[in-house]
Amino acid sequence: MKLLSLIEAQQLDVSNIFFLFSRAEEFRKGIIKPLNGKILTTLFYEASTRTRLSFEAAMLKLGGGVISTENAKEFSSAIKGESLEDTARVVSKYSDIIVVRHYEEGSAKKMAQVSNVPVINAGDGAGQHPTQALLDLYTIWREIGRIENFTIALVGDLKYGRTVRSLCYLLGKFHGVKVIFVSPEVLGIKEDIKDYLQRQNVKFEEETDFYKAIPQADIIYMTRIQKERLQNGEYEKVKSLYSINQESLAYIRKDARVLHPLPHTEEINLSIEVEQTDPRVAYFRQVENGLYIRMALISYLLE
Ligand code: CP
Repeated sequence: MKLLSLIEAQQLDVSNIFFLFSRAEEFRKGIIKPLNGKILTTLFYEASTRTRLSFEAAMLKLGGGVISTENAKEFSSAIKGESLEDTARVVSKYSDIIVVRHYEEGSAKKMAQVSNVPVINAGDGAGQHPTQALLDLYTIWREIGRIENFTIALVGDLKYGRTVRSLCYLLGKFHGVKVIFVSPEVLGIKEDIKDYLQRQNVKFEEETDFYKAIPQADIIYMTRIQKERLQNGEYEKVKSLYSINQESLAYIRKDARVLHPLPHTEEINLSIEVEQTDPRVAYFRQVENGLYIRMALISYLLE
């Protein structure tokens, strides 16, 4: 069924995932379907570099226009007490599609319920980030040539990490995927994701030993320990537990790939030279893939 908005990764099925991959490949080759006259609004109540700029670049490359509030928390009428629902009603009068990032879980869903135009969730608190998951899966497909029969280690803040949550919802749709969750106990993956993977017959295990997990993986998906979502003191205890550096790189298979949604802090500690020459370092290719997959998604939702 055609999607009207994209709020949660579980809305995507195998057929629309491959449709979006194939459209992203067309856009990569320069096959453009112009969206002349269409307008995309970005409403970001939380900081972003990649998601906001890649959505805006994607719309411009498609021939459309972009309107935006740079910091919606301070510079939109939210500061005067306007509700998310009213904001969505207003913005949908000015534009054809809305991309929203907000610090509260469920915020994009609230907006989609009242909007006359498609809404894309660009991250809602510790909830989901479905377009990141889509570009992550697209990157895995391009890097190892398949999205079935592989092992992925998901590393870091799995409790508050919305990218991991959304990615798990997509991984559960494919055969032969094994997930190794690597985190300190305080940042373990939540029960709802484990329940979902069990229902989908996805094999998974939980591990605290990074060095035990990474040699087994085709994909090592690193995440940042999110200082902004931890209480005082907790961050210092866990911030340096897992790192891709010269030492840990030696434990990673030659044909494996390291992904990261970025931005990174200490969990990636490689020289620029290694990042530019070691084929296992895939996170900047992942960034570029985000542009094409977001072009594909915008054009799909607006056709
Ligand atoms: N991956 C990601 O969401 O990056 P930004 O926070 O920079 O948008």
